[in-house]
Amino acid sequence: MTTAESYVRFAVREARGVSPAYERLALAVSRDAELLALLGELPPARRQPNLLFGVVRLLGGPVDDPAAFRDWTVANWPAVEAQLRVRATQTNEIGRCAVLLPVLAALPQPLALLEVGASAGLNLCPDRYAYRYGDHTLGSGEPVLDCAATGVPLPVRLPEVVWRAGLDLNPLDVTDPAEAAWLDALIWPEHTHRRDRLRAAVAVAAADPPLLVRGDLVDDLPALVARAPAGATLVVFHTSVLYQVPRPRREAFVELVRGLPGHWVANEDPDVLPHDGLPESPGEGSHNVLALDGRPLAWTRGHGQAITWFG
Ligand SMILES: C[S@@+](CC[C@H](N)C(=O)[O-])C[C@H]1O[C@@H](n2cnc3c(N)ncnc32)[C@H](O)[C@@H]1O
Repeated sequence: MTTAESYVRFAVREARGVSPAYERLALAVSRDAELLALLGELPPARRQPNLLFGVVRLLGGPVDDPAAFRDWTVANWPAVEAQLRVRATQTNEIGRCAVLLPVLAALPQPLALLEVGASAGLNLCPDRYAYRYGDHTLGSGEPVLDCAATGVPLPVRLPEVVWRAGLDLNPLDVTDPAEAAWLDALIWPEHTHRRDRLRAAVAVAAADPPLLVRGDLVDDLPALVARAPAGATLVVFHTSVLYQVPRPRREAFVELVRGLPGHWVANEDPDVLPHDGLPESPGEGSHNVLALDGRPLAWTRGHGQAITWFG
């Protein structure tokens, strides 16, 4: 796929109906020979729309108007390029805690949580957030994570977490304002509710940050698993990570995780982590499949805004 085609695909498949500003920008970039030429000097993984738009926002550039975006980006290309080369798309979406919670709360407590692809580790704190599944609420304080739940065995109490650790190629430190600013810039412009709850979650996590280890989800997982305490249910989990992992490494990860003690919770796009016999997905929008120990249980929306149980 050419860079232009990947921007059209992003506009149509990801941004349409979700972020009008990014849909406009992506279509404009796809037709802009100069911007495409600049992007073409970067390695393919560094040309992605989400990365470019996040970097421009981080640097204070405009993203509402395609012409202003273009002029600003071309004029500031050296700074943009420098950030594109060092940043990665690492959106830490705490809304995903709302779809993980029914599974986590149903496991034998207490839990030792180990997240691979943890980003800033915000999803390692599911016991510290509040949840609203329609009329069913859980927890108190901020952030409140709203989730439309269909057919879900909803938890009546929050999980008890006695250990939490994350593994990531590039862990982000929520106590560092520059890294928190990058997490903020990765949230799409119109998504104020996601930005508000990100800021609330960053405050919660920064008060008592989880252990985050730099490493690869295959090579470095066994050593981190070995640090989990005895007497707690080990849960290795991941959400929206495997699409960033090349296929042979995904397969190696699945083989590794299947052989570990404890439980494995995955919330991933079924195109990258396939399951047999999935029911039809419930409607439009990007969907992940929530699975426990390889058994698919539910369709979930990409930012954790809905879960439809079938397990
Ligand atoms: C899209 S983010 C999702 C973060 C988090 N799981 C969430 O749902 O909010 C994917 C994360 O996976 C990490 N990642 C990608 N490949 C990895 C690998 N091979 N080993 C460890 N982490 C990896 C990235 O650095 C990034 O932080």
